[in-house]
Amino acid sequence: MIQFGVLSGLAGALGVNASIAKALALMPTPSETEGPFYPAQDQQDKDADLTQIDGHAVAAQGRYIIVSGRVQDVAGYPVVKAMLDIWQADANGRYRHPRDPNPAKADENFQGWAILRSDENGFFRFKTVMPGAYPASGAWTRPPHIHFKISKPSYRTLTTQMYFPDEKLNNSDLLLNAKPPAERAAMTARLIAQQGILPVYEYNIVLDPLRSE
Ligand SMILES: [Fe+2]
Repeated sequence: MIQFGVLSGLAGALGVNASIAKALALMPTPSETEGPFYPAQDQQDKDADLTQIDGHAVAAQGRYIIVSGRVQDVAGYPVVKAMLDIWQADANGRYRHPRDPNPAKADENFQGWAILRSDENGFFRFKTVMPGAYPASGAWTRPPHIHFKISKPSYRTLTTQMYFPDEKLNNSDLLLNAKPPAERAAMTARLIAQQGILPVYEYNIVLDPLRSE
């Protein structure tokens, strides 16, 4: 009888803990389409400074920014050494992609693509240009955004897009506005600081563990 009592008490305690843990869990970052412009050709320079291609005398055009954040799991623990695959349009709204139909002039000095790893505390940071808006179809113009694919063994690979706060085009974007408000907020970076003359945007990412189903 005593043993049974201890066990049921333990189960009850575990049940309570499990429901508390569920209530406190972070919302996984919403996923979004990869889109048609994932880099088609490999390139040498994929480092964390997208404003400067190795060996180019001239740096990228546009307004430079810092994007930094932390990769966490739903329990709030840092995800260490997660791979962040990042690509975006240049300041003119053009991708380094052969099938980008945008007639805007491509910036040959913009790196366009980076592959980074989160550090031992889950943090990452890169320097880039504010991406330009670009025509999608008809009257639809995509707001400035950065594409992310984040992967780490034992987590579900997340493909998503990061948006910027206070961009008018956010209000008319068909992809962003298909999401409920809480998800839109999670997909939008926050302007948190200034590093010298560079604005620093914070974008935190929450990964979902892989579940065996
Ligand atoms: Fe895009």
